[in-house]
Amino acid sequence: MTPIEGFSKLSKEEKIRWIAQQIGTNVQNLEQEFKSYWHTDAEVQKLYDEFSENTITNFYIPFGIVPNMLINSQFYAVPMAIEESSVVAAASKSAKFWLDKGGFKAEVISTQKIGQVHFLWQGDFHKLYCVFDELREELLRNAASITKNMTARGGGVLDIELIDARQHIPDYYQLKVTFETCDSMGANFINSCLENFAQTFKSWLLSNPIFTNYEKDINVVLCILSNYTPQCLVRAWVECPIEQLGQVEDQNALQFAQKFKTAIEIAKKDVYRATTHNKGIFNGIDAVVIATGNDFRAVEACGHTYAARSGQYRSLSDCSVENGMFKFWLDIPIAVGTVGGLTALHPMAKRSLELLGNPNAEQLMKIIAVTGLAQNFGAIKSLVTTGIQKGHMKMHLLNILRHFKATESEVHKAVEYFKTQVVSFNSVREFIERVRVDYDSLV
Ligand code: MEV
Repeated sequence: MTPIEGFSKLSKEEKIRWIAQQIGTNVQNLEQEFKSYWHTDAEVQKLYDEFSENTITNFYIPFGIVPNMLINSQFYAVPMAIEESSVVAAASKSAKFWLDKGGFKAEVISTQKIGQVHFLWQGDFHKLYCVFDELREELLRNAASITKNMTARGGGVLDIELIDARQHIPDYYQLKVTFETCDSMGANFINSCLENFAQTFKSWLLSNPIFTNYEKDINVVLCILSNYTPQCLVRAWVECPIEQLGQVEDQNALQFAQKFKTAIEIAKKDVYRATTHNKGIFNGIDAVVIATGNDFRAVEACGHTYAARSGQYRSLSDCSVENGMFKFWLDIPIAVGTVGGLTALHPMAKRSLELLGNPNAEQLMKIIAVTGLAQNFGAIKSLVTTGIQKGHMKMHLLNILRHFKATESEVHKAVEYFKTQVVSFNSVREFIERVRVDYDSLV
């Protein structure tokens, strides 16, 4: 690659041409390939282009549906945007498994978010602390034009605290602000409030006669929301009498319940296992977060921090097998919105929300947490019984067949054959070779 000046100023075609030169490929072919992924409606394509910068085409990932997801006695068809084979299938199987056992339950525990103004200040902390109530009022008054609509919707700024953080860094303090952002994810609202608070804080210090000249000098380092939202928490769970679990592959209900619980205990103790375990949960969570136009990086970052809140990274889900009952649950912070951001702009996000009955943010938190739990249940159920590869490779079979450019009739034969055989790259290759030799000997 050679460096380039002004790439962003080039047209889409010019950008593609430059890329073709860089990778040493035919310009027309590359242009044709990239254009083949453009939306047929130029207006819609313009919309996608403008979500980001330097866009040259669209990157497709599959959009699938998990039907029959029973949550708090209501059925949902859950949209999932994910490329990994067997994720949607696993969630669907879990939805079906729990259907006749009361389905999934979920409740939102809290919905608060945090933003911080991080600043350095060399003044007398005690003096600032004593007049902080006055400052808080001034901060709220000056931000009223930003907070007015959110307050009218039942949200806004809930609290502003002055945090002395000098034990970490000399002269370091924070304004720690608690927000309620109702049905919006709230990032823009929070950040606008914080930047406004910082401005007000500076002017207030300058105009306040109790502060000496050097105390009027505040160094605001940064103002930003925190993606760690442990107070924006949802719980999802399933439970049933142990015997209702039935025979699961070669295990009776109690054997299965106990082995399942042991798998969770391992993920609560061993960090290597915990990471993979939680990754399985996020297979479900991210897919719904993406499908509904929300920020999956924020949700992931928060979930992993929450998983480490005790000082050790652990499983996000938990399980108990007691008094004849099997219980499996997930407590997880999920900050998402159903208004604002991409939710109304992205045509597929809009459709996803419509498919979910246009939920509010709390309902969406529950749906997302349940999908994470369903995904986790499916993964652990497979892992402690048949192993993951059986189902996974069955789903992967089509990808391997595509690699060998299998015809439709070969695909059909392979799907039948591998219903009873172990799928691996080699076993599929051998099968395809055999089928092709048989065919050649016939013609
Ligand atoms: C694969 O994407 C996810 C799993 O590894 C999760 C797990 O091990 O629990 C199957």
